[in-house]
Amino acid sequence: MGLCKHAYVATDTISIRPAEDGDRHSLALLFAAVAEERDGIAAEPPIDVEELAANGKIDTTLVAIIDGNLVGEIHVQPSWMGFGEIGMMVAAGWRGRGVGTALVAAVIEWARDYGLHKLALSVFPHNQAAIALYRKTGFVEEGRLRRHIRRADGQLWDLIEMGLLL
Ligand SMILES: CC(C)(COP(=O)(O)OP(=O)(O)OC[C@H]1O[C@@H](n2cnc3c(N)ncnc32)[C@H](O)[C@@H]1OP(=O)(O)O)[C@@H](O)C(=O)NCCC(=O)NCCS
Repeated sequence: MGLCKHAYVATDTISIRPAEDGDRHSLALLFAAVAEERDGIAAEPPIDVEELAANGKIDTTLVAIIDGNLVGEIHVQPSWMGFGEIGMMVAAGWRGRGVGTALVAAVIEWARDYGLHKLALSVFPHNQAAIALYRKTGFVEEGRLRRHIRRADGQLWDLIEMGLLL
C-alpha cells in the first residue's frame, strides 16, 4: 500500500502529503544536500542525483511543502514483522520551524492506518536535534550499536536505536 489516501497534516504554512513522481528531482536534490553535510544521515557524497530521481523508492514517502517548495521528507519501510523503519530530513534553511515535528506526526498517523504496531529508527548520538524531535514525539531509546557505521574518512560512529509503540 502506498501513501496515497489523503494529506495527513496541514497547518497554516506546512502541508504534508504523499510523495508524487513530480517530487522525484526535489527529493533527490534534498538527499544530496543533506548527504553533503556529512552529519545527520549515513549517506555521504557522491550522490547520483539523476539516478536517485529516476529510481528512488517514493511509494512510502511523505513530503512537507511550504509555499509550493518541497522542504522535507519522511519515509517508512514497513516490515512483514509489523514494525516500520523511518528516516527523514528537512532542508537546512527550513529547520527549527516545526517541519520535522509535522512530518513525524504524519508518519505516526500513516503507520497506525497501515496497521503497524511500532516505528523504529536509528540516529547518530551527536544528532541532538533529531533525538530531541524523536523524544518529543514519543520515541524512546532502546539500545546502542557500537562503532556501527564506517564513515568515508574511516571514523566509526555509534548508532542509537529508538522506537515508538503505536
Ligand atoms: C532532525 C531534523 C529532521 C529535525 O527537523 P526540524 O524541522 O528542524 O524539527 P522541528 O523544527 O520540528 O524541531 C523538533 C524539535 O527538535 C528539537 N530541535 C530542533 N532543532 C534543534 C537543535 N538545533 N538543537 C537541539 N534540539 C533541536 C526541539 O526539541 C524541537 O522541538 P520544539 O521546537 O518544540 O522545541 C532536521 O534537523 C534534519 O533534517 N537534520 C538533518 C538530517 C537528519 O539528521 N535526519 C535525521 C536522521 S536520524
